[in-house]
Amino acid sequence: MNSANTTLHNLESAFAGESMAHIKYRYFAKLARKAGFEEVALAFEATAEQEVMHAFGHLDLLYPAASMTPQRALEIAIEGETYEYTEMYPKFRHLAIEEGNNAAVAEYDEQIAESKIHAKQFKRTLDLAAKRFAALAKVEERHAKHYKDVLATL
Ligand SMILES: [Fe+2]
Ligand SMILES: [Fe+2]
Repeated sequence: MNSANTTLHNLESAFAGESMAHIKYRYFAKLARKAGFEEVALAFEATAEQEVMHAFGHLDLLYPAASMTPQRALEIAIEGETYEYTEMYPKFRHLAIEEGNNAAVAEYDEQIAESKIHAKQFKRTLDLAAKRFAALAKVEERHAKHYKDVLATL
């Protein structure tokens, strides 16, 4: 693995870690609030908000704004949700059955259903915006051609 790939891989890991910290702290806040410790809950929630900013910092490098479009974002989201319900959860579900962990099997089934719905909803959003995306691409193409024409006269 060359150093560029190592850094990309590390950014992915760091993004995963910060994202997990965010959700974990929100979960801990929920537990603390339920136990009557409002100040502990607030401490977890305040830090959870900062973990979101840390995760965004990694995403700025993993998905640079200049290389992203709403269309690309939807495609990435569909890919991720589809991976969840076609590969990840079915594999985990199979292993949970082998281990006799029925609670995990039931939870994976819910997640499979949810991921399927999410992929479908994103696909619908992508299809609905397809005309606007195509028009935008045409405008950009026209601008690029215009700049090229101007450059040729210089
Ligand atoms: Fe952090
Ligand atoms: Fe999802």
